[in-house]
Amino acid sequence: MDDRNPGRRVGVTGSAIVGERVDAAVRALRERLEGFEPLVGVVLGSGLGGLAERFDDARVILASALPCWPASTVEGHEGKLVAGSLAGVPAIGLSGRVHMYEGHAPEDVVLPVRVLARLGIRALVVSNAAGGVNLTFEPGDLMLIADHINLMARSPLFGPVVDGETRWPDMFEPYDAELRTALRRVARELRIPLVDGTYAGLLGPSYETPAEIRALRRMGADAVGMSTVPEVIAARAYGVRCVGVSCITNPAAGISPEPLRHDEVLETTERVADSFQALILGGIGAFGSLLG
Ligand code: HPA
Repeated sequence: MDDRNPGRRVGVTGSAIVGERVDAAVRALRERLEGFEPLVGVVLGSGLGGLAERFDDARVILASALPCWPASTVEGHEGKLVAGSLAGVPAIGLSGRVHMYEGHAPEDVVLPVRVLARLGIRALVVSNAAGGVNLTFEPGDLMLIADHINLMARSPLFGPVVDGETRWPDMFEPYDAELRTALRRVARELRIPLVDGTYAGLLGPSYETPAEIRALRRMGADAVGMSTVPEVIAARAYGVRCVGVSCITNPAAGISPEPLRHDEVLETTERVADSFQALILGGIGAFGSLLG
């Protein structure tokens, strides 16, 4: 700590608090898990909520029972964790994801992922709803995330380092090549079409303008959404291997002559929920032997 520079001290103190909050949540969750050790963490984003019902030997922990856990401001999205076995693999699911556009600080958005990383998960599976920027994508397509572009204000790791993390996480391969290959194979076996693409993460909550979508396409984005990127950055800081799938819910702004409707996003996620869940469940089953 630099006594001659109070600004720096504020930064150090702020981060110490983040570290303490992670520690407190880890302690409380460990106590509730009674020795259960998850291998895989799953962020149950749009369209994957139903996976919470697919855990065997499930135990449900309300987020409100855990200290420092961020609370969702979206009605009907009560935060909870489900621990148990998914396709025979010890896993823990996070439902009621929080977003930066709700006003949460980036470090709050990623607190659950930091806690799961500290519990020892080896892989993080993320899912989201996204607009299709690539002109060949159609609503209902599932996109395996090959890479991402972070356009979300700042990194969730901004500030001094938290226990267990590296200062400069490698982002050469944010989405693990071996896990992606395994998921592609599962998709083929289940005859679920799966396209490949780059996800651009924006802060939101307003949807993009047509000019922004044209700019994103030139940058190399195939899909756009308001989540996922912070979680993956945080997971990589612990060396956790990531794999993600976007449900393309709508053509991004300006592609169709119609304005974008949030209803359309919900309708599409509901329409593909069954195959989305089957794909992720099959994928987790296949990851088990790769993570041991
Ligand atoms: N833009 C941003 N986020 C989204 C979209 C979109 O078009 N669709 C679903 N989430």
